[in-house]
Amino acid sequence: MSTTIEAILNRRSVREYTDEPVSEKDINTILDCARWAPSGLNNQPWKFIVVRDEDTIKNLAQCTHYSTIVLRSKVLIAVYLDNEEMYHHDKDVMAIGASIQNILLACVELGLGSVWLGEILKQADMVNSILEAPENHELMAVIAIGKPVEKERTSSRKSIAELTFENKFGKKWIGSN
Ligand SMILES: Cc1cc2nc3c(=O)[nH]c(=O)nc-3n(C[C@H](O)[C@H](O)[C@H](O)COP(=O)(O)O)c2cc1C
Repeated sequence: MSTTIEAILNRRSVREYTDEPVSEKDINTILDCARWAPSGLNNQPWKFIVVRDEDTIKNLAQCTHYSTIVLRSKVLIAVYLDNEEMYHHDKDVMAIGASIQNILLACVELGLGSVWLGEILKQADMVNSILEAPENHELMAVIAIGKPVEKERTSSRKSIAELTFENKFGKKWIGSN
């Protein structure tokens, strides 16, 4: 079993999936991790739509430039902000981000690949119509999930030194890497 830190550091966006299905047990574990994210006042402003129906996946693929990823995925999770549960838009959106990161990390632990799709928000109205989202629900992201095709995946990040200051802005944090 990997540690949380290993999962965070080794997670990569996975955009190619095998034909293997994702089990309902794994989907439930993912949803459990999503709902245990922190939220302001513990208001849990999220709603999740699990999409496994092939026709619905095909329809959703029409809503994004990343249609190939959507078509290859075995399950999609559309993540919504439920405005009825909202108490502060920015904080609630951040809580949704935490919930999505939990989804991505749960996938690592389960040997699944996933990618956070944000570009699809450009076509949020179309997605909402396909998923019959109620008026007061705001689409935040769609997560594509499947068993990863084995291949090396690389990514990069800015260094800690570029991103971090000590005590106040301007005085660089002297750390390694
Ligand atoms: C808010 C957000 C939106 C994203 N939207 C897309 C997307 O529409 N399509 C895509 O292929 N990847 C998308 N990604 C994944 C990023 O491209 C990816 O996380 C980034 O390049 C770093 O790569 P890594 O996740 O492998 O470390 C998105 C990530 C975030 C956090």
